[in-house]
Amino acid sequence: MRPSPGSSPDTEHADAPGTFWWNNTVFYQVYVRSFADANGDGVGDLEGIRARLGYLELLGIDALWLTPFYRSPMADHGYDVADPRDVDPLFGDLAAFDRLVADAHSRGIRVTVDLVPNHSSDQHEWFQEALRAAPGSRERERYVFRDGRGADGSEPPNNWPSIFGGPAWSRVPDGQWYLHLFAPEQPDLNWANPEVAEDLDRTLRFWLDRGVDGFRIDVAHGMAKSADLPDVGDGFISGTAVLHDNDNDPRFDNDEVHEIHRRIRKVLDEYPDRMAVGEIWVKGDDRFAAYVRPDELHLGFNFRLVETEFDAEQVRSAIDHSIAAVRTVGALPTWTLSNHDVVRHATRYGDGELGQARARAMALVELALPGVVYLYNGEELGLPNVDLPDWALQDPVWERSGRTERGRDGCRVPMPWEGDGPTFGFTTGETTWLPMPQDWGSLTVEAQLEDPGSMLSLYRQAIELRRTHPGFAGEEIEWYGAPEGCCAFRRRSGGLICALNTSDAPVPLPPGEVVLASAPLADGELPPNAAVWLA
Ligand code: GLC
Repeated sequence: MRPSPGSSPDTEHADAPGTFWWNNTVFYQVYVRSFADANGDGVGDLEGIRARLGYLELLGIDALWLTPFYRSPMADHGYDVADPRDVDPLFGDLAAFDRLVADAHSRGIRVTVDLVPNHSSDQHEWFQEALRAAPGSRERERYVFRDGRGADGSEPPNNWPSIFGGPAWSRVPDGQWYLHLFAPEQPDLNWANPEVAEDLDRTLRFWLDRGVDGFRIDVAHGMAKSADLPDVGDGFISGTAVLHDNDNDPRFDNDEVHEIHRRIRKVLDEYPDRMAVGEIWVKGDDRFAAYVRPDELHLGFNFRLVETEFDAEQVRSAIDHSIAAVRTVGALPTWTLSNHDVVRHATRYGDGELGQARARAMALVELALPGVVYLYNGEELGLPNVDLPDWALQDPVWERSGRTERGRDGCRVPMPWEGDGPTFGFTTGETTWLPMPQDWGSLTVEAQLEDPGSMLSLYRQAIELRRTHPGFAGEEIEWYGAPEGCCAFRRRSGGLICALNTSDAPVPLPPGEVVLASAPLADGELPPNAAVWLA
């Protein structure tokens, strides 16, 4: 039994008073376009999610993170928000949202939503007003407008590239330029302007009053821009899914951003039991820690595991850094292997069966760790990244990079639910917004549900054990000595041991009874590309 939202926090594994519901929680990221489509248009929607809550309950997750479903022209699939306080008709309406929250809560599943404070859509009424207004006007002050460089102002105000390729500046007819760290359809808001912060407060309260349990904050390391907008220095790297270093990349992680997070936190603190997690692509444990100080965000996505290869040394180092960073400020670590911006980990780790075996092993590593786990929809099915044909690509990265970067569509292909195709129960319609591979019949939820050896069964067992097994108690881990190419840690209070073998030979198991293994043990040894839990 799980507590229902609003009840007192889960104390099953809590060993410290004042532990919050998100401690030890398994969050599940729903990429709304790609989860389930109820109205047959080939794009996922809120009713589709509601219809699949039974599945999510069976999977055993505690909370959802929904990607943006707000009014949007969809230049970046909803991360370009035209009205942050309404639902886009593509995804439903406010009544559908309320139904989803009510039904999720009645099943003990919490609902958190995405918030996009760094930029708006170019179709947001503020930006439209800014375009109509004169340089220097109050309307332009809500965004970052500047005169250009060069005698006639025809050069962008600085050398900043956009994350999606090309310059981060676009010129408007009267000759001024506006800043967009992402697509030109996503103008950056001017966070030095109090109106911008006041509007975000309104948005926060709007959704909190509707009963959301928290927020995921998009580009939480962006927002604040230093007033003089200095050029980026040598050696910076641009692109999606990059850990930024403010020393040579002044676009991100400016100190003024922390005032913004303190303000967000103050609003959240007016409501009991609500949380925020930031998307924080910064290098350096200290820089990361600053975002999760006691008066800022509750949690931050640490992307070290995402950046890590299937290599025991690297995995151990990523875990150590992630824990060390948050421990200095008394926050909880978060763990994530995949999301809607990166190549799915089953594919990152290797082709076909090799990638699947390694993904199974890493699922056990992730779900054995103390703190908060974020799963990405489809990883529990072992979905690989999809090589889509050129004609199908929709991510703005594809066009903005002059068709040199294929973008993120390959990890956003709709979920296969049942049957043999062509839309695998994702929609009642005939097509899906991204085409689904026709060989996904064996990956559907239906095919995996009753198969005890499936990826889905492994996730279900692991999540269930994480919630109920006493071995998971406590917040600390300690490392065991392990053979070359392996690592093993133990939950210090509960005693659960997780061992990972990334070498190419079987290794002896640490002492203990096997609780769960990602692959059959070979004569009592842990085979390569596998992990095991012992207690
Ligand atoms: C974040 C989102 C990504 C989006 C970008 C711009 O990185 O995760 O999908 O494109 O912000 O909003």
